[in-house]
Amino acid sequence: MKGTLRAKITGVGAFLPEKIVTNKDLESIIETSDEWIKTRTGIEERRIVDDKTSCSDLGSEAAQRALKMAGITSGEVELIIVATITPDMSWPATACIIQEKIGAHNAAAFDISAGCTGFIYGLAAATQFIQGGMYQKVLVIGSEVLSRIVNWQDRTSCILFGDGAGAVVLEATNGPSGILANYLGSDGQGAHLLKQPAGGTCMPASFKTVEEKLHTIHMNGNEVFKFAVRVMGDASLKVLEMLGISKDEIDLLIPHQANMRIVEAALKRLNLPPEKVIVNLNKFGNMSSASIPVALNHAIEEKRLHQGQKVLMVGFGAGLTWGATLMEW
Ligand code: UT7
Repeated sequence: MKGTLRAKITGVGAFLPEKIVTNKDLESIIETSDEWIKTRTGIEERRIVDDKTSCSDLGSEAAQRALKMAGITSGEVELIIVATITPDMSWPATACIIQEKIGAHNAAAFDISAGCTGFIYGLAAATQFIQGGMYQKVLVIGSEVLSRIVNWQDRTSCILFGDGAGAVVLEATNGPSGILANYLGSDGQGAHLLKQPAGGTCMPASFKTVEEKLHTIHMNGNEVFKFAVRVMGDASLKVLEMLGISKDEIDLLIPHQANMRIVEAALKRLNLPPEKVIVNLNKFGNMSSASIPVALNHAIEEKRLHQGQKVLMVGFGAGLTWGATLMEW
């Protein structure tokens, strides 16, 4: 469809902290085993930041790499959207802090809080800004320092998460390729299933909240698991339906990297062979909004992404939220 105004990803970048924490390392701090974590989740290790590194540091590095691949300068960026549940501070937006760090002085900037679906929400927002004609060059970043909000004594959640950042540059194009469709969903009835209870206006920080570890991730793992299995398939099929595309036209699936069993359920529902999916949760764990862009970067590094391919990105997370994006690369 030549002539249609589209948003197209022209640059991708990722940045992971150097420090590796293996399942074996976790065995010394909680009652768990490498075997349990591997069989129940597929995770083998994750990256963790040092004491001095924040969400905006990781996001800035990833953004600079994405700008380099796109071949544009930070001064050309018109909008920065940061998806994160671990911002530098509640406010101002981490997007503004990254704007300053990368010198994107001509951009507007804001954050999105949509849990692990944040990057997909960011892509959808960027698509609208571009297709509506307001901006031509947009940076979407997913950046997380989950190690700072994990309860390292809670074995049901601390084994899952890691730190990292991924970023993409989207540009306006008239070509046939680019973002073809976005689908988003949310259900606040499930807000209590995955949350950081304290630190907001509902439960401000106090000695008691710190003592009771209410500033950490609280999750009902089993309920989130069931929800994830359902919506990963539903959201994927919905975005295909929007375009009248069948499952077998998908060339590559880039799912949120939470649990290998959730990824396998999505593959089964979409009737896709394992060679059509990008998986990196074994190396990085669940990096929330950073998981999908880091996996996209991984696909490029592994030379698994080729021009003209139909790529489906799909995620779920706190909110509850879910969403899917279909693009032609
Ligand atoms: O991005 C969104 C973030 N959240 C998620 O994606 C979470 C989705 N949920 C999950 O991935 C899974 O529910 C978990 C990995 C969190 C848990 O796996 P599960 O197969 O649902 O295990 P379970 O919670 O049913 O627990 C089974 C057993 C329990 O022991 P009992 O009651 O059967 O004696 C747990 O206490 O495993 C125990 N257990 C552990 N054992 C060793 C829970 N965590 C651990 C652990 N090591 N780390």
